Parts: sequence; C-alpha cells; structure tokens
Amino acid sequence: MEEILVIHGPNLNLLGTRQPDIYGSATLEDINAEIESRAAKMGFKMDFFQSNHEGQLVDKIGEAGARAIIINPAVFTHTSVALRDALEAFSGYVVEVHLSNIFAREDFRHKSITAAVADGLICGFSLQSYLLALEAAARLIQKTE
Ligand code: DQA
Repeated sequence: MEEILVIHGPNLNLLGTRQPDIYGSATLEDINAEIESRAAKMGFKMDFFQSNHEGQLVDKIGEAGARAIIINPAVFTHTSVALRDALEAFSGYVVEVHLSNIFAREDFRHKSITAAVADGLICGFSLQSYLLALEAAARLIQKTE
C-alpha cells in the first residue's frame, strides 16, 4: 500500500462555518472522511495533517516519506516561499488543491507561489477538488510502477 499525505493549511480547520458560500458546508473531518473512504477502495493508505503555522507545515513536508502529497496551502499559497521550497525539496509527487476557484476571486489570490513546484493544480470544485486530487496522485504513482 502506498502512502499519500494530505496537508491542509491555515483556517481550513474552520471549514463548515467559515464562509460556507465560498467553501461549502463540509467540515474538515467530513472532507478527510470522504478522502479516506475513496482512498481505501483504491488501496492507498492516507495520512492527514492540518496546521495554521507555516513552520509546522514546512516541518511536516520535510519529514514526509509519502509517495505523494496533496496540499491545500490555503493563504500560504499566495505568500509562502518557505512552503514552495519545502515542496520543491520533497521527492514524491505534489498535487495542489483549492476548494474555491482562486482565479475567479480577489487579485491577490490569482497567484500561487507553490503551484510552480507541484505536478498539477486542481481548484474550484469544493470537496470534489480533493477527490480529483486523489485521483491525480494515484495516476502519478501508478505511472511509475
Ligand atoms: C483556499 C483559497 C485561498 O485563497 C484561501 O486563502 C483559503 C482557501 C481554497 O481552498 O479555496 O484559505 O486555499
């Protein structure tokens, strides 16, 4: 069984009550449970991590031994060179994911610093963004076997 690590950045612990018009009504636990159940059917072992702290996210990426990381860097997408460098140093695959379509929102959200070091980016499909990201990570892993 391969391991895929799912990382959620700042304020995603507030999903469910945080701007549901933009981010939907699913909580982070709901999202993780959906991913976990889909991944189990696909034969992948998952690990989940959420932090509001840039350094903790960098540490988690640095110690990750997973074949792939699915990451929603949240606001750090637009600000963090530290996260970009951490993802660039990670030897597995990286799929960036956003619940909302960041390109259809405020100007400052149109740029992703982290996406340049990801294998791909999926955004705008709410909870489904994560399931599509899981599909993408699975294909990347299987491609090399
Ligand atoms: C987000 C989009 C970011 O711009 C925002 O700061 C978030 C969530 C998304 O999933 O749509 O916190 O990453």
